[in-house]
Amino acid sequence: MGNLVVITVANQKGGVGKTTTAVTLAHGLARQNYNVLLVDLDPQGQCASLLGLAQEPGVFNYLVSNSRLRDVVRSTEREGLWVLPGNKRTETAQVVLTAEGRRKDILTQLFASPVVDSVRLHYVVMDTAPAVGVLQANALYAADPLILPAALDFLALEGVAEVLNTLDALQRPSPPVVRVLPTFYDEVTRESKSNLARLHEAFPNAVLGPIHRATILRECAALGRTIFEHAPESRAAQEYGAVVAGVTDE
Ligand SMILES: Nc1ncnc2c1ncn2[C@@H]1O[C@H](COP(=O)(O)OP(=O)(O)OP(=O)(O)O)[C@@H](O)[C@H]1O
Ligand SMILES: [Mg+2]
Repeated sequence: MGNLVVITVANQKGGVGKTTTAVTLAHGLARQNYNVLLVDLDPQGQCASLLGLAQEPGVFNYLVSNSRLRDVVRSTEREGLWVLPGNKRTETAQVVLTAEGRRKDILTQLFASPVVDSVRLHYVVMDTAPAVGVLQANALYAADPLILPAALDFLALEGVAEVLNTLDALQRPSPPVVRVLPTFYDEVTRESKSNLARLHEAFPNAVLGPIHRATILRECAALGRTIFEHAPESRAAQEYGAVVAGVTDE
């Protein structure tokens, strides 16, 4: 595989499984022997936490203070997986970049020379905040594919439609492959099943998964370990394994 693949995980709705998906996908790809950089564009800074690492102003230092990539990227102690961590200072970066009107180009340098620790990256996976803003716009502009987690218990279609509207407004020269990932699936509830059916209707051939509601994913977050480390035999690990396979097969 030659070219860098940039994957963005987005949904303007909160708590739909974006960070869980970004972190799990990034680790899953690294476990397939790819070199992966996870970039945390959300001021909540949870990518590092989910990997058991400290939150840091990495995104701020890289985008605003012009730190070198190698000084702000952290090893995750997992083969092939690095993280550019964020924290609440990412919000300040957003204010500065908004003032500069930079909706498209903030990560150009990273994409032009995607190397960390002298290793060439295969994938960059970007996690985004549940909000519209300059960082999300940049992530939507650069991504291909774009993965949109949609929680089946609540307004799943609306969340996806909102991101797609934002994407349209950016007028990309070539639109990305879009994949909807239904999350919090609970086949016992009628609402969950009917929301899943509606997603399939609205986005034929673009719906992955689904990922079932699984308490063990919450446990993983609390432990700072991914599902592949904490419960590799679980249904959640299998379901996310299928998402990883879907990405590498594209
Ligand atoms: N399939 C799932 N089943 C049960 N819990 C889940 C599932 N996916 C994620 N969670 C849990 O739900 C919460 C929200 O998930 P997550 O942080 O990934 O969502 P998010 O979209 O990134 O949220 P935000 O919009 O705040 O960034 C977390 O506590 C997470 O551990
Ligand atoms: Mg998140």
